[in-house]
Amino acid sequence: MVPTLDEAPNVEPLYSRLRASLESSGRDCFEIVFVDDGSTDGTIEIIKRLSEEDGRVKLVVRSGERGLASAILRGISEAGSSYIVVMDADLQHPPEKVPELLEALEKGYDIVVASRYARGGGVEGWSRLRLIISLGASVLAWILVPETRRTSDPMSGFFALNRERVKLPQKPPPGFKLLLEVLRLNPQARVAEVPYIFGSRLGGRSKLGFNAIIDYLIHLAMASTPLRFAAVGFTGTIINLLVFYAFLSFGAPLDAAILAGFEAGLLSNFVLHEKFTFSHRSYGGSAISRLAKYHVSSAAGIGVGFIVSRTLTTVMGLDPLLSQLLGVIAGFTANYLLSSRGVWAQKSG
Ligand code: GDD
Ligand code: MN
Repeated sequence: MVPTLDEAPNVEPLYSRLRASLESSGRDCFEIVFVDDGSTDGTIEIIKRLSEEDGRVKLVVRSGERGLASAILRGISEAGSSYIVVMDADLQHPPEKVPELLEALEKGYDIVVASRYARGGGVEGWSRLRLIISLGASVLAWILVPETRRTSDPMSGFFALNRERVKLPQKPPPGFKLLLEVLRLNPQARVAEVPYIFGSRLGGRSKLGFNAIIDYLIHLAMASTPLRFAAVGFTGTIINLLVFYAFLSFGAPLDAAILAGFEAGLLSNFVLHEKFTFSHRSYGGSAISRLAKYHVSSAAGIGVGFIVSRTLTTVMGLDPLLSQLLGVIAGFTANYLLSSRGVWAQKSG
């Protein structure tokens, strides 16, 4: 499927090269779905003509809707087959690579990423600045969205998937990076890579502007399981303090207030982790057993935090406040890892 917006000089060469590449690899049975969001440069007319000449070319023109990620989702839903390749119209994604992507799907991979950063891949004619921005964006994804670590190029717009085995987002993510969302939603999927050289545009202009960077950052923040976990932990702390304060004001003993505060924060965290933090995963077991396990991981977090804070102060002579802060970070990490890999671990298969 190919999203288009003002790509008049490119669609016909793309069609010819794609067709030649597929046919020479012995594939006659394919469909090229274009999703256009109201191009005004003649793109639509050219695709219409192609679709009249070749029944395998299909055109969807959307009006009122815009956006690359949602256009791709629409194209996937219009396509008839289970093997889907997503690529740009401007020939920066070489059509000659498409058979390799399909072969990997045929071997049983669920998602195949054409990667600029795999060995043998690269970019042509990029300024140092653009390279730095792109690498920085990949590193951010690596840190914030651990599900992307299965590929060297989570921001690629050139990828293939097996629709039968891959869960797609209900709502399009903001911005350009549908692949990132697909990787996040399918932590158990088998991912392969095919290196390619990202060429320069044949004709026309890029639509990726400054807004796309902002959209990307918003997308990352929403897609990041560790960040969601931290945000929920923050709300839990506030509930903890409120309940603690309420218990004290009603004259409860200090110990009871402390425990009630912790338990209230923990319960509210638990509900939010179920409904929000890990809602994209399918995890096993009953809610009661997860709640029991979450008590263990939270307690382990406090234990780790205690040991770190105490050791840094007593053994290493660090400032107690700084030690306590580092203890909080260590405890948070321990709790996150146990929750993510234990309590709410993705079921395999
Ligand atoms: N239907 C539709 N609607 N198509 C769009 C829209 C839209 O709102 N915006 C862009 N497109 C189409 C373009 O016509 C092109 O075929 C493709 O999406 C990519 O747009 P470009 O403007 O060429 O993006 P780029 O080359 O800067 O970015 C590409 O490379 C990045 C890697 O650096 C994209 O593939 C990105 O997804 C990718 O991350
Ligand atoms: Mn492009």
